[in-house]
Amino acid sequence: MSNPDAAKMAGAAPPMDTVSCTINGVQVTVPKGTRLIEAAEQVGIGIPYYCYHPGLSAPAMCRMCLVEVAGAPKLAPACVTEVADGQVVLTESDKAVEARRGTLEFYLVNHPLDCPVCDKSGECKLQDYVHAEGRPRGRSLEAKRVFGQDDFGGDILYDGDRCIMCTRCVRFMREVAQDDRLCVVQRGHRSVIDTFYDHGVEGSPWAGNIVDICPVGALLSKDFLHKARVWDLDGTPSVCPNCSQGCNVRIDTRDNLIQRLRPRANPDVNSYWMCDYGRYRYDWIHRGDTRVAGAPFDVTAAGDIEAPQLRGANGSHEEVAWQAAVLALVERLEAARGHASVTVVGSALHGNEDNGLLMHLAAQLGSVKAVYRSQRAADEVVCPGFPRLARRRDLTPNPQGLEALGFERAGDDEGRGGLAAGNGVLLVLGDALADAPADFGREAALFVVFGRADTAAARNAHFILPVSTFAEAEGTFTNHEGRVQRYWPALEQPARVRPAWQVLGVLLAGLNDEAAPADAASAFLRIAELFDPFAGLSYATIGTRGALLNEPVRLGAGGS
Ligand code: SF4
Ligand code: SF4
Ligand code: FES
Repeated sequence: MSNPDAAKMAGAAPPMDTVSCTINGVQVTVPKGTRLIEAAEQVGIGIPYYCYHPGLSAPAMCRMCLVEVAGAPKLAPACVTEVADGQVVLTESDKAVEARRGTLEFYLVNHPLDCPVCDKSGECKLQDYVHAEGRPRGRSLEAKRVFGQDDFGGDILYDGDRCIMCTRCVRFMREVAQDDRLCVVQRGHRSVIDTFYDHGVEGSPWAGNIVDICPVGALLSKDFLHKARVWDLDGTPSVCPNCSQGCNVRIDTRDNLIQRLRPRANPDVNSYWMCDYGRYRYDWIHRGDTRVAGAPFDVTAAGDIEAPQLRGANGSHEEVAWQAAVLALVERLEAARGHASVTVVGSALHGNEDNGLLMHLAAQLGSVKAVYRSQRAADEVVCPGFPRLARRRDLTPNPQGLEALGFERAGDDEGRGGLAAGNGVLLVLGDALADAPADFGREAALFVVFGRADTAAARNAHFILPVSTFAEAEGTFTNHEGRVQRYWPALEQPARVRPAWQVLGVLLAGLNDEAAPADAASAFLRIAELFDPFAGLSYATIGTRGALLNEPVRLGAGGS
């Protein structure tokens, strides 16, 4: 079983020789060793498949990808047949279409009519292919076999009746997780996927991926079970916020609530996979409660404060319009300018744009001490089949970005302690200050919170300015190796909440009589101008796969 894609993902050098063939009359030139199914994809020709997956070996067992190759006596499986010079391939010939139709009919002999209740409905390859080119009605009169459901442990349910025996799940556990917990038992139409031990996949850090790669609804996530029909979901490309690996993900939402996270392919970061630790930790993103299980301690998730607030002479806060808050704050900043000692608390859950403009604002005022706090695990959890991917020690997405901007880590591995408010200017972004004493910041000459958490310490601020979470705004995180990656807004923010880069940009414009950045891309360009490690980068150069900092910085001692 060859797996050139897995080798490619692992960083092997691409072959230099090329070969050319025609597929459905379209000429295509590809590196030697490319398989027909991939060559066809490059010219926009889709060949149906089940068992093939670009990140796994190819057993050529589902027979959905059969194509006609001129001169060959039999149809060829496109998932394992390598392109040869001068080859003439037909994917839509009568023979190829009839073969697929027959294969689909065989699958449907035993597949239940579960689409109305199946979680995979709407993104199921069996449903799609049968709809596209299956027979209009089944000819089988025999009763279907019945296996029922099996709890595979952890988050995974197995519905044997729906399984089409592509073995992707078995190969994933063997080749990527390298934890042989699944196997095929029995033969022929009695074949079924089973676990070796009672605990099944329980405790495997990578098992959630088998639900993604199951082409039908045979493997189900208990977390997502009957939660939403997939056509009701809005998918937004983003970056996992649960560690500094920065796995590329898609945030699926419905009714402005996150329903699930799924990996997006990026060969430089996470291949096609993500870990279960990151996959199932999304509740905290849209909850204000900093005590949600699994929430990072300095959570910036939606809090109770949703409008700008100004502290009055009697110590209580009142809501004000943004314009009034900004004008009043610019006046106070002007007064402090040049002779203040400034303490800045950044947030590794906020993007480079937010933290960079915060740092820039602080630098306008006086001498700066800039810190951030971040939870850290004891160990990394490396993916054995793709070692570039690991659940990193840092359990926030942007500590590397903060280090590149000049912030220093403070506090312990729980993300607690390490803060000193001082009596100068105190600027806090996104840190809930949940562990800070109730009088934290009372001595500060000017205390500004850019955040939404309603904690005792935050209530000491002269200004509380509610800002968007990463899930509500556009921006970038810098991952553990210095790769800057973009995220996009997946959730709608409350009406009077604004992105931090916008608020800070307007404050800087007020202070310096300059134009405020009109969008996140312009805010990033400002960062690229101001901070050397980001020089030369822009949203265009970052694209959808990220770009490395020009001069990657190293994390402080113990960083990973
Ligand atoms: S459970 Fe899904 S991935 Fe596993 S063999 Fe069956 S159809 Fe394939
Ligand atoms: S490895 Fe890190 S970034 Fe990737 S899914 Fe897991 S927690 Fe998220
Ligand atoms: S995809 Fe080629 S045989 Fe399954």
